[in-house]
Amino acid sequence: MMPGIDGFGIIKEIRSNPATATIPVILLSARAGEEARSEGMEAGADDYLVKPFTARELMARIGAHIKMHKLRSQLMKEEHELRLVAEKAESKYRMILDSISEGFIFVGRDWRINYINDQAAFIAGFQSRDLIGKTMWGAFPELKHTVFGRAYRKAIESGEVQRVEDFYAPINRWLHANIYSTPEGLSIFIQDVSEQRRQQEQLLTTEKLAATGRLAATIAHEINNPLEAVLNLLYLARISRSASPESIHQYLLTAEQELTRVSQIARHTLGFYRDTSVPLDIELSRILEEVLSVYRSRLAAARIEVVKKFDPVPLIHALRGELNQVFSNLISNAIDAMREGGRLVVQLSALEHDRRNGIEVIIEDNGCGIDSIHRKKLFEPFFTTKVSVGTGLGLWVVKQFIENHGGTVSVWSSVDSLDHGTRFTIFLPSDTMIATKQHLM
Ligand SMILES: Nc1ncnc2c1ncn2[C@@H]1O[C@H](COP(=O)(O)OP(=O)(O)O)[C@@H](O)[C@H]1O
Ligand SMILES: [Mg+2]
Repeated sequence: MMPGIDGFGIIKEIRSNPATATIPVILLSARAGEEARSEGMEAGADDYLVKPFTARELMARIGAHIKMHKLRSQLMKEEHELRLVAEKAESKYRMILDSISEGFIFVGRDWRINYINDQAAFIAGFQSRDLIGKTMWGAFPELKHTVFGRAYRKAIESGEVQRVEDFYAPINRWLHANIYSTPEGLSIFIQDVSEQRRQQEQLLTTEKLAATGRLAATIAHEINNPLEAVLNLLYLARISRSASPESIHQYLLTAEQELTRVSQIARHTLGFYRDTSVPLDIELSRILEEVLSVYRSRLAAARIEVVKKFDPVPLIHALRGELNQVFSNLISNAIDAMREGGRLVVQLSALEHDRRNGIEVIIEDNGCGIDSIHRKKLFEPFFTTKVSVGTGLGLWVVKQFIENHGGTVSVWSSVDSLDHGTRFTIFLPSDTMIATKQHLM
C-alpha cells in the first residue's frame, strides 16, 4: 500500500508525463479475476500479475516487457526517421514542381486536386490555395466538354498517356497538356502555348499569301501559251483571204480548243479560291487533278511523265484550300527535284492505318532525292536547300495542314545513284477531326 495514492493513480501519473509515458508498467495486485485485470489494463497498465506469484515469474514478465519496449522504441525511431526522409523528399519534389515553368496538377482518382503548382493556378487565373481540395469539375466547370476534359477521363479509364493541344475558350488561351495516369490518379503538365501558336499562325498566313503569289505566276504562264496560240490562229484566219473555208474552220476549231483549256484552268483556279475556311466533303482525286492541271506546262517543260494510280476512295471531310496547298507544295517540290526529267507517281488508295480507316496519298518522284543529313530537318520551318529561291516553308505547311486534319505525313528518300527519288506518304483518317480555327489577337 502507498500513502495518498493507489496503483491506478500512479499509472495515470506515469502516463501523463511525456518523459515516462512509454515506460511499461506491470500492475501487481491481490485482486484476482478477469474484471480486475481488465480494469487495470484500461487504466493504462501493460500487464497484470495477481499475488501470489514467484520471483521467477515476475522476472520473466519484466524481461519480456523490456524486450518489447526496446523493440517498439527502435521501430518508432525508424519510423520517425523514415517519415523525416519522406517529408524531406516531398518538400524537395514540391520545390521542384513549384520551380518548373510548366504548370503541374496532381488529381486523385476521386478527381480531387491534391496539388497544383503556382504556374498551373496562374494559367487558370486562380491562386493555388483556392483550388487544392476541390474537384477538377467543381473548380473548372467548363472543362467537361473540352478536349482536355475528355483526355483526362480517357487517361483515367485507359491508363495511357494523353497529349492534347487545343484552344481553351474559358481563358482564351492555347494550352498543351501531357497527362500521365498513375494508380493514385493523374499527373497533368500544362503549358500555355498561345505565343507559339500566334507566331505559327502569322507564318502560315504569310506562306498562304506567298503560295497564292506563286500560283498566280504559274497560272499566268499556263494561260499565256494557249492565248498566244489563239491570237496566232485568229490572225491567220483574218489575213488568209485565199484560204479555203475548211482551213479557216480548222483554225477556229483549234482556237476553240485552246480557249476551252484556258477556261478549264480558270475554273480550276476558281476551285482553289472558293471558300476555304469551311470543311466540305471532298473528292481527293478531283483535287489532285486540279493541282496537276495547274502544273501541266511546268511538268511538260521539265519532261516529266505523270502516272496517276487512283483507286476509288470515299469522300473526305476536309478543308479544300489546305489540301490544295499540300499537294501543290509536294508536286512543286517534286518538279524542282527532277531537273533532268523523270516520273511523277500520284497514287490514291483506301487504307487502314493504326486501326483507323482512311485514305493514303502517295506523291513519288525519281528526282535527286534528299540527303540523309537533311531528312531530319525537312519539316522544320525555313529549311531549304534552294538558295535564294526557296522559302523552306512548303513542307512545314504540309505537316501543319495534314495534322490539322488528324492525319500523318512521312517521307522516304534515296540518293543512291541507281535508285534515287523521294516518296511522300500522307494518311488522312476518314474521321478527320479538323481543329476549329481560333484566332488569337
Ligand atoms: N521531292 C523532293 N525531292 C528532293 N528534295 C526535296 C523534295 N521535297 C523537298 N525537298 C527538300 O526539302 C527542302 C524543303 O522543302 P520546302 O519546305 O518545300 O521548302 P522549299 O521548297 O522552299 O525549299 C527543299 O529545299 C529540298 O531540299
Ligand atoms: Mg517547296
